[in-house]
Amino acid sequence: MRKKHLFCLLLLLSAVSYQASAQSGNKLKSFSPGALWHDDHGELINAHGGGIILVNKVYYWFGEKRGAQRSEGVNVYSSRDLYNWKAEGLALAQSDDPASDITKGCLMERPKVIYNKKTKKYVMWFHLELNGKGYAAARAGVAISDKITGPYQFISSFRPNGNMSRDMNLFVDDDGSAYHIYSSDENMDLRIVKLADDYLTANQQDTLLFRRQREAPALFKKDSKYYLITSGCTGWAPNQASLHVANSIFGPYVLKGDPMTGENAAKTFGGQSTFVLPLAGKKDAFIFIADQWNPKDLKDSRYVFLPVDIQEEKVSIGWLDNWKLDRFNK
Ligand code: GAL
Repeated sequence: MRKKHLFCLLLLLSAVSYQASAQSGNKLKSFSPGALWHDDHGELINAHGGGIILVNKVYYWFGEKRGAQRSEGVNVYSSRDLYNWKAEGLALAQSDDPASDITKGCLMERPKVIYNKKTKKYVMWFHLELNGKGYAAARAGVAISDKITGPYQFISSFRPNGNMSRDMNLFVDDDGSAYHIYSSDENMDLRIVKLADDYLTANQQDTLLFRRQREAPALFKKDSKYYLITSGCTGWAPNQASLHVANSIFGPYVLKGDPMTGENAAKTFGGQSTFVLPLAGKKDAFIFIADQWNPKDLKDSRYVFLPVDIQEEKVSIGWLDNWKLDRFNK
């Protein structure tokens, strides 16, 4: 058999064996960063620039639904073990109404969902770019739902306190105050603004964290310190991550260098930060989540989940081909 034919045959056999294992209900028992990751229907998980929230012992992963290029709304998946994900469908759809801010053709990026205990609503914020305007609108979009999986109802879009708002994240502090962290002023600035009590708008406590041209912010808290991982600004291409640490959420943030370690660390292992998930019920266990973007086919961009190691404020994140949550027991 010619080499090329043998290769095709092997490819076919591995595809068939994957299908068989998906259909026989074989459960994943570990993370394989950067590998193809399928949902309960055997479809590739389509939730980019995402974030995860825990509700009644179930994790919900919200992320950008992408076509090859198009933004197609916000998808949500659920899981009890973080390895196996059930497709829950579209949490926020784009609108057919041409007058809507989220009319089809808009860009919805980096969606994050938090729960407001006072209003009992799930609140989603995302980076919104208006249809046909490229990245010029630079707005935050807000949507709400009574049910975690949605459907979410779009509320409004705006620039917080008039500031441009592109790459973003949300963070809820221990006292229930919530914050929107966002790249502003053509991505030169990284800012943080406190949300109103209902989480639907930004209030006026709005601070410049640093002017270093950073994006893809992922904030987490350990022992009353705030750790902020960001990327550089090179579009879909990977670049070097950096970590800032602060004693107060509004700063000052002190630059601590690149937390990634080992081979390909200087390119964040081909990825770009999107979220850091504190693991429920385990002290000091955090998972760093990044996107390995595929600009030719965005829906086929891969996910990187890696454990965060913190020793006396020193954060390091190293590549692992495969790992399990029991790693945090050691
Ligand atoms: C990246 C950003 C992504 C997306 C992309 C578009 O820098 O982090 O969310 O906006 O640019 O090129």
